[in-house]
Amino acid sequence: MDINLIQAQIEADLSNAGSLQALEELRVKYLGRKGLIAELTSSIPALAVEDRGNFGKEVNALKSRLLSLIHEKEKSLAGDSGKAGNVDVDIGMPGIAAVLGSTHPITGIIDEICTIFSRMGFSVLEGPEVETEYNNFTGLNIPSEHPSRDAFDTFYLENYPKLLLRSHTSPVQVRAMKAHKPPLAVVVPGRVYRPDAVDASHLFMFHQVEGFLVDENIRFSDLKGTLEFFVKSVFSSDIKMRFRPHFFPFTEPSAEVDISCLICKGKGCSACGKKGWLEILGAGMIHPNVFKQVGYDQKKYTGFAFGMGIERIAMLKYGINDIRLFFENDLRFLKQF
Ligand code: DAH
Repeated sequence: MDINLIQAQIEADLSNAGSLQALEELRVKYLGRKGLIAELTSSIPALAVEDRGNFGKEVNALKSRLLSLIHEKEKSLAGDSGKAGNVDVDIGMPGIAAVLGSTHPITGIIDEICTIFSRMGFSVLEGPEVETEYNNFTGLNIPSEHPSRDAFDTFYLENYPKLLLRSHTSPVQVRAMKAHKPPLAVVVPGRVYRPDAVDASHLFMFHQVEGFLVDENIRFSDLKGTLEFFVKSVFSSDIKMRFRPHFFPFTEPSAEVDISCLICKGKGCSACGKKGWLEILGAGMIHPNVFKQVGYDQKKYTGFAFGMGIERIAMLKYGINDIRLFFENDLRFLKQF
């Protein structure tokens, strides 16, 4: 029997093995109990005595060559098809595209608002959702008897120190002004919390963007110009805006800002309650008492502030009639943005 011929045959067989399974079949064929090597070994006693030693050595050499070839082949086959081993993968098949999500409409509006104000030189700042009672109320000139401080209107967490879930983004005014000297121009997006019963226009959690600017010689007309640029950028350039006198403890004078109805363009329809106007935010000139709380010189500096509800802006912009839709995770709704 020509061992060299056998070895050539084995090498050809092994190099043709296309999978780990085929390789295993070859291993059994050559090295199994009834395999070729076993057969060769058991034929030794039948040989002439002087030939046995040589032939035995050749069989042993063949066996170790075979073992190392199988080992190598095994490594290359496993590497080809990944850890799973003998899975046949057709790398020419088209892949399965990953499904990409899209930006949540609330996140989208927040990004848009922050971009518009960034273009006017405002910085974007965030504050914590768990706030001190001082930052949420006292620092903003909201007196201790004010109804918004009531436990029916604010989620209180701890008594000492008094902590709560912020009911608006305005406390970041106090934080920012205590941390930085004027001039200061900041917008603050974030979540706020109020214990309201849930219906089509109320949730216990929603989003606001706060904005404020402090410097020397800041006037109400600066507020008007800033908000006009903002409103025209978010909605459309033909939008009209009006200021209605209002009261907020942290601004004086204060106003609520309306835009002309996006649907009837001011003529009056069911969306605007026949008024032709839609309220979109609160604003005013920062109250001197707030400057006193944060240690700003009230004779030297003036400033304006404003705050808006994001869900409301998104509802007006996209014509959505129920605030709950934003947080139900219904893909039929979310995929439209
Ligand atoms: N913090 C007010 C709210 O949640 C909104 C607001 C009104 C913010 C007037 C302001 C402002 O900065 O000047 O209802």
